[in-house]
Amino acid sequence: MGKVYYISKNVGLGLLLLAAIALTTILALSIAYHKEKMKNQGASESSVPAAPTTAFTPKDPWDHYRLPDALVPVSYRLNLWPRLQPNEDGMYIFTGQSSVIFRCVKETDLIIIHASKLNFTTTDGHQAKLSGVGDARAPVIQKTFLVKRTEYLVIQLRRKLTAGATYLLETGFVGELADDLEGFYRSEYTQDGVKKVVATSQMQATYARQAFPCFDEPAMKAVFNVTIVHDPSYVALSNGKETDISEVVIEGVRVKVTTFEPTERMSTYLLAFIVSDFDHVQSSQNNLLIRIWAKRTAIADSQGDYALSVTGPILQFFERYYNTTYPLSKSDQIALPDFSNGAMENWGLVTYRETALLFDPVLSSTGNKERVTTVISHELAHMWFGNLVTLKWWNDLWLNEGFASYVEYLGADYAEPTWNIKDQIILYDVHRVFAVDALASSHPLSRREDEVNDPAQISEMFNTISYSKGAAVIRMLSEFLTEPVFARGLSSYLNTFAFGNTVYTDLWDHLQQAVDNTPSLHIPRSIGEIMNRWTLQMGFPVVTIDTRTGSVTQKHFLLDPESVVDRPSQFNYTWFVPIKWMKTGVEQQQYWLLQNTDTHRPMSASGSDWVLANTNVSGYFRVNYDLDNWDRLLTLLNTHHQALSVINRAQIIDDAFNLARAKIINTTLALKTTKYLSKEREYMPWESFQRNLGYFILMFDRTEVYGALQAYLKKQVQPLFEHFRTLTANWTRVPEGHTDKYNQINAIWIACSVGVEGCRELISSWFRQWMDNPGRNLIHPNLKGTVYCVAVAFGGAEEWDFAWRMFKNSTLASEALRLRAAMACTKVPWLLNRYLEYTLDPTKIRKQDATSTINLIAQNVVGMPLAWNFVRAKWSDIYELYGKSSFSFPNLVSGIATRFSTEFELQELKKFKEENQDVGFGSATMALEQAIEKTKANIKWVSENKAEVLRWFTEEST
Ligand SMILES: *[C@@H]1O[C@H](CO)[C@@H](O)[C@H](O)[C@H]1NC(C)=O
Ligand SMILES: *[C@@H]1O[C@H](CO)[C@@H](O)[C@H](O)[C@H]1NC(C)=O
Ligand SMILES: *[C@@H]1O[C@H](CO)[C@@H](O)[C@H](O)[C@H]1NC(C)=O
Ligand SMILES: *[C@@H]1O[C@H](CO)[C@@H](O)[C@H](O)[C@H]1NC(C)=O
Ligand SMILES: [Zn+2]
Repeated sequence: MGKVYYISKNVGLGLLLLAAIALTTILALSIAYHKEKMKNQGASESSVPAAPTTAFTPKDPWDHYRLPDALVPVSYRLNLWPRLQPNEDGMYIFTGQSSVIFRCVKETDLIIIHASKLNFTTTDGHQAKLSGVGDARAPVIQKTFLVKRTEYLVIQLRRKLTAGATYLLETGFVGELADDLEGFYRSEYTQDGVKKVVATSQMQATYARQAFPCFDEPAMKAVFNVTIVHDPSYVALSNGKETDISEVVIEGVRVKVTTFEPTERMSTYLLAFIVSDFDHVQSSQNNLLIRIWAKRTAIADSQGDYALSVTGPILQFFERYYNTTYPLSKSDQIALPDFSNGAMENWGLVTYRETALLFDPVLSSTGNKERVTTVISHELAHMWFGNLVTLKWWNDLWLNEGFASYVEYLGADYAEPTWNIKDQIILYDVHRVFAVDALASSHPLSRREDEVNDPAQISEMFNTISYSKGAAVIRMLSEFLTEPVFARGLSSYLNTFAFGNTVYTDLWDHLQQAVDNTPSLHIPRSIGEIMNRWTLQMGFPVVTIDTRTGSVTQKHFLLDPESVVDRPSQFNYTWFVPIKWMKTGVEQQQYWLLQNTDTHRPMSASGSDWVLANTNVSGYFRVNYDLDNWDRLLTLLNTHHQALSVINRAQIIDDAFNLARAKIINTTLALKTTKYLSKEREYMPWESFQRNLGYFILMFDRTEVYGALQAYLKKQVQPLFEHFRTLTANWTRVPEGHTDKYNQINAIWIACSVGVEGCRELISSWFRQWMDNPGRNLIHPNLKGTVYCVAVAFGGAEEWDFAWRMFKNSTLASEALRLRAAMACTKVPWLLNRYLEYTLDPTKIRKQDATSTINLIAQNVVGMPLAWNFVRAKWSDIYELYGKSSFSFPNLVSGIATRFSTEFELQELKKFKEENQDVGFGSATMALEQAIEKTKANIKWVSENKAEVLRWFTEEST
């Protein structure tokens, strides 16, 4: 699945800055982006199995969440007929017939197959019909029944099935085509004033069983023969290419029956069925049919063209990278009006949120474009890694998602080589997940198979650790193996296990073979031994280099040094650390730190020589130095910062601020790394600064520190603002460089926030022009998010209501998103309260957007207490509506609590936890624990740092 990005990257950043401005807004997100990762997913947190609410002792075979190992599916025949008009009861339904051919591998008198929320038709009083295939004779059915808790259809037989024999099980059923974003569901939109309904599906992780009875586990691969019945004017899509479309009359209704080619052997969670009135654009590349589908209006506005233009190159890149041809006969990608995740890698029919696939050449921003490219790249990477070769069980999800989250940058870089997109993994993934993984409550990437059983435990696997830490450690692995060796091992793995299932050690084995075949490469331990340290224990080390002696040490990095780690590690929290480094600008040979303490003489330095380790953050760790070396690095930044790569400039800032948080260095040393920024023009260091500064703003924006902080910021940003004014010829042009486009936004945000002369007036005049002439929006798409938020923040009900009208009238998803975020920027309490109420009304705010909207409001300083009251008052409603299905749900709690820094707020959080024990927290359970832990750390940090920070900002701003 793609990551869930709640809001677009630039919007998130903007909010943060506005906070700075307004003394009243706040940032909550440590987000990077939208990534479906989108990465804006606010910091989504880690997972722990949800505590069972009642003790339940499994007695019968159907009490277990895992299927017994007696039966194996071979193929299915599935016919589905979604009704896109409501029936007499006002309900949308679908009907279906399904048969599955399965092999018995162990004698059994039970057939246990997944089924949920389906009403079965009966034959002879039973909910299924069994027959033998070939010579096999089927036993008579004793009894059939449904088990709700474990989601099974159980068929008890009078005698046993024979091992080695093959049988056919047939069922007929009716299901609801609900708007719940799960299984086979319904999505609605309006076109030319007419309501249109789409039947679509989301099977990952455990929802295929809601569409038809199936052995719904990733290792139960089979072939699927699908036919779909639908309105003659609509089009049906599925994983395979359509092979026949015929018109017939069924039950007196004229319909089309679309038949699809049998799929390859595949997992149920990758199935997709869609019936819509959509249009498409298409191209073909070496006989491969590539299509992009969307609402007719979107296709007519050319919004699918960009996706079409990058899909071919990205597929080509992965074919070469994996050294394996694309496994299917077509590639469809479709943008859906209602979709809970960023995107889903259904094999051959990838589904997206509209914002993740559609790009309007006139109206979309650079950030939108980048998101489209990286999400497509991520999903297409799964066509091989994940779909062709599939991890056996959900406990290894991190490898599937971490891998795709790493290689998406490689595919995107191939499609857009001028963007330097590969650098951005540092901001979007590595720095972002450092924040979560530095907590004592983090958890290892890898879990044991038996720790992940029920659907809630499975859905908790989809978290930041899996995606972003997974990406970071796989990148580190590829860096120390070198890319050619990594790619060779990967290709061998994919070819060996094509159409099958694996566990993560299978990948290590194939990479190890590639290493063994490369005599010039020296790796001090086996891949398994090295990687176990990063995947089986949580966290990461801070490596300290003392350049006076060349001593190198490592220690588990904890953001709160007093937090207690009660999770044992078989490796005692030490790692095998590959360290790439340079001395005074010259790259040195990679060094491996294999113990807690070592001495590496070449790392000693004196005079004006400086050492910089973890170049380009190729390793997943932080770095600290002796004070002399820190001073030399500061001097270098202040005199000749271009001597370091952009990534390393961003890294120094991020490491320093985090080391200070952990009390390893002084807060003033961290602040000193920002002094050179008055000369910095690049995006990454500014972005890194801004995120780290966010914490200061959150903690101090109601105190006297804030005035001095603002004054310092004004001094630092003034030259950047002038730089962009000149570069854009008085704001009339767009900067050429990809990241310059982003940094222009940073410059405007900060400048307006701290009151750089002319900034707010400039922005308000742009918005005013639009209000005066709503049909003509002249604001450049890159700047729209910023302009809308600033204008709403400094405006009143008139601006807000205008934004709302434009939001409801918007036909472009990314524009709607910007407006939705901007409306959370107002400082007027009644407007914010009304907006909160809208989130529970799906006619105002779509269900898929509800939790992220509440979160946006919570980022605003004025909105935070309002959102907190709202969530507490309506917790059971919110939990009922979103707790089970929404991927962004855990962020609700963590988003609201980000600024908590008083004893009173800590007590409130604890009380909230107690009072809602009976309702429960579902996938937010862990996020709540983490919020409590973070609040405690905030309280302490403020008391320890306030005086020092005030002094520094006061001195530096005059
Ligand atoms: C699905 O199609 C394949 C290939 O035509 C066929 O061998 C298989 O028996 C079919 N499966 C079912 C359940 O009809
Ligand atoms: C670091 O990254 C930059 C930009 O991607 C690249 O030009 C440079 O060669 C890299 N440096 C090292 C030491 O890998
Ligand atoms: C930008 O505006 C300033 C002051 O209004 C003016 O002096 C300057 O020539 C303008 N620059 C460009 C490139 O238009
Ligand atoms: C609403 O949208 C339509 C079509 O996108 C546009 O023509 C119209 O001007 C918009 N209405 C307003 C008030 O902006
Ligand atoms: Zn994914």
